Amino acid sequence: METVKVAFTVNNEETVLQVSPNETLLETLRERLDLTGAKESCGIGSCGACTVEVNGLPLRSCIVLTSEMQGADITTVEGLNREGKLHPLQQTFMEEGAVQCGFCTSGMIMTAKTLLDKNNQPTQKEIIKTISSNVCRCTGYKKIVKAVGEASKKTA
Ligand code: FES
Ligand code: FES
Repeated sequence: METVKVAFTVNNEETVLQVSPNETLLETLRERLDLTGAKESCGIGSCGACTVEVNGLPLRSCIVLTSEMQGADITTVEGLNREGKLHPLQQTFMEEGAVQCGFCTSGMIMTAKTLLDKNNQPTQKEIIKTISSNVCRCTGYKKIVKAVGEASKKTA
């Protein structure tokens, strides 16, 4: 199959790849770049487990083609840990027990990060609205909402 050359930034690293036109961003991240934080769950854009940040917005990487990522600035959960220090969201998810199986966690954190980046003092309602399309089958959501709220205090 014919391949396409695409150049983008992942976690501040310039990346140039030759990809097939139907390769998803999730496949590229997990299988070529060894960034396995984003998970494949539904594979059809419904659950949010594969969410990464692209140009400041949360994007479901299972339904995005890598060939469309030319020039994009991509951040995955692996890119949040700077100089050995966890992002406040990573820290509060652990502290509040907002992680059980962990399958939804990176998607939740990346979705919440895009909220805190533009509004570092969100109301509980805003937090719930933001994460409402990310599915968690384990925690019952309360601890996740609390963790995002606590992280907002650390980023405010
Ligand atoms: S795996 Fe991508 S939205 Fe569910
Ligand atoms: S912690 Fe298991 S799906 Fe959310």
